[in-house]
Amino acid sequence: MSVQNEIRRLTAPDIFARKGGEPIVMLTSYHAHTAQLADKYCDVILVGDSLGMVMHGLESTVPVTLDMMILQGHAVMRGSKRALVVVDMPFGSYEASKEQAFASAVRVLKETGCGAIKLEGGKRMAETIAFLVERGVPVMAHVGLTPQAINVLGSFRAQGRDEGDWARIEEDTLAVAQAGAFSVVIEAVAEPLARKLTAQVAIPTIGIGASPACDGQVLVMEDMLGLSPRVPKFVKRYGDLGPSIEKAMADYAREVRDRSFPGPEHTYPMRKKT
Ligand code: KIV
Repeated sequence: MSVQNEIRRLTAPDIFARKGGEPIVMLTSYHAHTAQLADKYCDVILVGDSLGMVMHGLESTVPVTLDMMILQGHAVMRGSKRALVVVDMPFGSYEASKEQAFASAVRVLKETGCGAIKLEGGKRMAETIAFLVERGVPVMAHVGLTPQAINVLGSFRAQGRDEGDWARIEEDTLAVAQAGAFSVVIEAVAEPLARKLTAQVAIPTIGIGASPACDGQVLVMEDMLGLSPRVPKFVKRYGDLGPSIEKAMADYAREVRDRSFPGPEHTYPMRKKT
């Protein structure tokens, strides 16, 4: 095997070292083939529990299971070579105790081969994050809007739009950084707060609906490609794949129905008898 051709996969320490440097590019992916595309452009590929809504049409991420995350995590690892792959810990797989979190994280790391896990929650998860990191599990934290808490929050609304809410989100961000997370996703917070948090912590902040003030950005791939039926207001669409997929399907259905489906050049030729 040629050593020169080997591509080194980015690690959690590589991403940590990007604080204040070149912005971190991150996208979600749940499949081998989209991971292969994302791998060319992204530093981090997130196997987000958003797969529950995007792939399975669920109303929230709450029903997503560890087995679902592991299956798609494995697919993304097969499709990618260079990006750090981070797999989300789903609701119910880590909150009960630090031991539960460790057992779930070990399954994710061993069964997918990914480089890190992500979990939601700030101050309340700090002890668990420290426990995991001390035992060899790289943790990306997630604060601000935490979608797994939808049943407590009542809606996916932005956080920290009033300065009165800032203290809680600041405490959360500082707590996860101090606990040893290598980076933190900050979701749906106003720009001045994102800027303040990014200046306050020594770990990279990765924004989603949190302004360009962060050290990196993450988007749900299907949202930015124009493939999701419901997209948060802050998402810029970089593609509009929905209509072109629909057109391709309509063309195919029409050709099958009116018997103009392609002929000999698209089918296997008969073998000549020898
Ligand atoms: O599940 C997910 O896709 C996420 C991103 C929105 C950050 O957590």
